[in-house]
Amino acid sequence: MKPLIAPSILAADFANLQSEITMLHQSEADYIHIDIMDGMFVPNISFGFPVMNAIREFTDKPFDVHLMIEEPGRYLEDFKKAGADHIYVHYEACPHLHRVLQQIRDLGCKTGVALNPHTPVSLLADVLHDTDLVCMMSVNPGFGGQSFIEHTYEKVRSLSKMIKEAGTQTKIEIDGGVNANNAADLVKAGAHILVAGSFVFRSDDPAATIRDLKNA
Ligand code: DX5
Ligand code: ZN
Repeated sequence: MKPLIAPSILAADFANLQSEITMLHQSEADYIHIDIMDGMFVPNISFGFPVMNAIREFTDKPFDVHLMIEEPGRYLEDFKKAGADHIYVHYEACPHLHRVLQQIRDLGCKTGVALNPHTPVSLLADVLHDTDLVCMMSVNPGFGGQSFIEHTYEKVRSLSKMIKEAGTQTKIEIDGGVNANNAADLVKAGAHILVAGSFVFRSDDPAATIRDLKNA
């Protein structure tokens, strides 16, 4: 099966964000991956609501919003208002994960849980039925352009098995260091959605790169 592609605008040219979004809008990208960092949960700060609101005007593709922030429950409604369609909160940032997922669902968004590389997929067993999407980090969150962690394949296979056994429709997204060398193997292991930042935006023809990843 072909993967869905979610380019991460963290690697876009922020001085020309409108044309970058228009390019993604016209490309075969399925979602637009939006990385929100608070300088606390991760050692970096990216951007927030004003940027999301500004780009929302230039595409109706779903916003795949990855919250790398502490206590994400504080801001769910604001992210919905800024155009979020999928909201991922980090497992490691949520002592009351089940409640937060219900809040995301009540807002009418798809529920997402993001997992750091060191977090075992088995910890999701009791929330799989409440989780539409799992964002499996294949780098340590906080920065684009890092190298893919090979152990991810094993985690994707285990999670895929767990999802089948639980009988849920949960989709697996891979985030970090995705490129033409690992895309096909990730799909074979069970990934449904591939996030790609640097690989797309640093290429000569980002739209063609998106198409190639889709056909990996
Ligand atoms: C990392 C972010 C990723 C990042 C991916 O913290 O969650 O979405 O933008 O960038 P690449 O594809 O460059 O690894
Ligand atoms: Zn991300």
